[in-house]
Amino acid sequence: CGIVGYVGHRQALDVVLGGLRRMEYRGYDSAGVAVLDGTGALTVERKAGRLANLEGALADTGLGRFAGTAGMGHTRWATHGAPIDRNSHPHRDATQRVAVVHNGIIENFAALRAELESDGVEMTSDTDTETAAHLVARAYADGPTAGDLPASVRAVCRRLEGAFTLVVTHADEPDMIVAARRSSPLVVGVGEREHFVASDVSAFIEHTREAVELGQDQVVVITRDGYDISDFAGEPAQGKPFTVDWDLSAAEKGGHDYFMLKEIEEQPEALANTLRGHFDRGRVVLDEQRLSDQDLREVDKVFVVACGSAYHSGLVAKYAIEHWCRLPVEVELASEFRYRDPVLDRDTLVVAVSQSGETADTLEAIRHARDQKARVLAVCNTNGAQIPRESDAVLYTHAGPEVGVAATKTFLSQIAANYLVGLALAQARGTKYPDEVAREFAELEAMPAAVHKVLSTVDQVRAVSRGIADSKAVLFLGRHVGYPVALEGALKLKELAYMHAEAFAAGELKHGPIALIEEGLPVVVVMPSPKGRAVLHAKLVSNISEIQARGARTIVIAEEGDDTVRPFADELIEVPAVPTLLQPLVSTVPLQVLSAEIARSRGYDVDKPRNLAKSVTVE
Ligand code: G6P
Repeated sequence: CGIVGYVGHRQALDVVLGGLRRMEYRGYDSAGVAVLDGTGALTVERKAGRLANLEGALADTGLGRFAGTAGMGHTRWATHGAPIDRNSHPHRDATQRVAVVHNGIIENFAALRAELESDGVEMTSDTDTETAAHLVARAYADGPTAGDLPASVRAVCRRLEGAFTLVVTHADEPDMIVAARRSSPLVVGVGEREHFVASDVSAFIEHTREAVELGQDQVVVITRDGYDISDFAGEPAQGKPFTVDWDLSAAEKGGHDYFMLKEIEEQPEALANTLRGHFDRGRVVLDEQRLSDQDLREVDKVFVVACGSAYHSGLVAKYAIEHWCRLPVEVELASEFRYRDPVLDRDTLVVAVSQSGETADTLEAIRHARDQKARVLAVCNTNGAQIPRESDAVLYTHAGPEVGVAATKTFLSQIAANYLVGLALAQARGTKYPDEVAREFAELEAMPAAVHKVLSTVDQVRAVSRGIADSKAVLFLGRHVGYPVALEGALKLKELAYMHAEAFAAGELKHGPIALIEEGLPVVVVMPSPKGRAVLHAKLVSNISEIQARGARTIVIAEEGDDTVRPFADELIEVPAVPTLLQPLVSTVPLQVLSAEIARSRGYDVDKPRNLAKSVTVE
């Protein structure tokens, strides 16, 4: 979910809606706003569906009702309760004086709800959030925290279990907004006579670049003139101030119909930014390294834990890290990792890959790893997010903000960053000589130009996409590092075009999946290099001829000049020749374009696929 709160000198409704628009990628099952008018009125509107529905409802009822300079808003990705109007945030108590928006899950909500109901409180929604609104109202009305909104919020937070960001207003306190966080994201924006709270800085970047990151279990009170942070017990606490180093234009579409298409084009730059500054005086360096070379030398096993596309970046990295470091590497879905009692100790390095740095599955996986004394290294695109904060070392991908829900530039950046981790390990362990590390780094540095070259195939891919937009299913095949690329291609097609798409290691085809091949079935094949991987290449060529003979329509991604595969390719998309381990950085790009174009021709919203959210902060 995306959350924003504001107190200042502007009309709060404008600021809040602007913030929600930029955070809509965090969830779009429903949206809502609350505005305090300064004289004791609290006005709320909320609507299921996209933000546009809310804006329509606001226009229908008249914006005049929403005059006021303090307010908050929410864009929802549903957890408890269907995405319908009455489950949309903000939620209010029975007197309608308190409004609450929430991101995360209140795990003990059933018990809290039962307690409230036995006291005669009538629930008006199916959400966990509503319990917080009633609890705050009661704490403010009566008892030791009566009349003190920050103290009331702290008292309620102490009773809540789970992960949450809460933003709370009370009609009797029209000049302040109180926000709290535990394990979910929250940042404060510091402006001139105005202050903000939000899930991420994109919500207020248009107004200020000065931000303060809140720590775990902290509460912040914002007013027009300042902010005040305390812990849940009420002791004064400090946040971590930082200045946002990207600007608003980076978060706008830049002339494209969709953010995703813009982000696909930004990949050369994103890759260059990932690499920048990471090779210094002959050595690969990480960003925040709280691990010594000695620690890295002691590593005897690597786990990569991640979800979605980040997981695929880990599958790619396994080939490089094992090859360069002679270390066993296991790549695990974060959601499975801690539930199967993995073998971990202080010599295990867990690499947590997460664009957002707030994915709950990945966060819980690293907490489990740290409990077992393993060292954790985060690869992350979001400065100061929870996963890097809880890690022993960090490598930021620096890909810039990614708004399209489907990962594109951050996926390529994750691959490059994972490779830097592999090189850092190899250099510390001495499995590669310094000049070899330097050579690998130089090869990585040539990749932005290679990716730039692939972007010139976009028009051809667009034409190919028209031929498969009406298919029922699409298969993807690859081998070696081409296999995770095939998995990523299939994932993209599922999430964007809602098509049945499945990827197989091409060698497995003959062990079962070949039974799926029928006349006209599109099969996308990611070819290895005919020179770099001649044996695998030859095997894949015969696989393709087998499926083509059975009627499949083959769409082949191959190295330029690969003439042996040409006779078996109904469509051939050429990518530049690059070293084998780096091939995913070029061969993924046409697959991203393919999915986006198919989704577009099927009339779907490429940036906001149904049922998905960019960062999933629940398990
Ligand atoms: C969500 C997104 C995916 C992403 C995954 C992992 O499911 O929709 O695109 O790959 O989370 O996100 P992370 O932020 O941890 O990389």
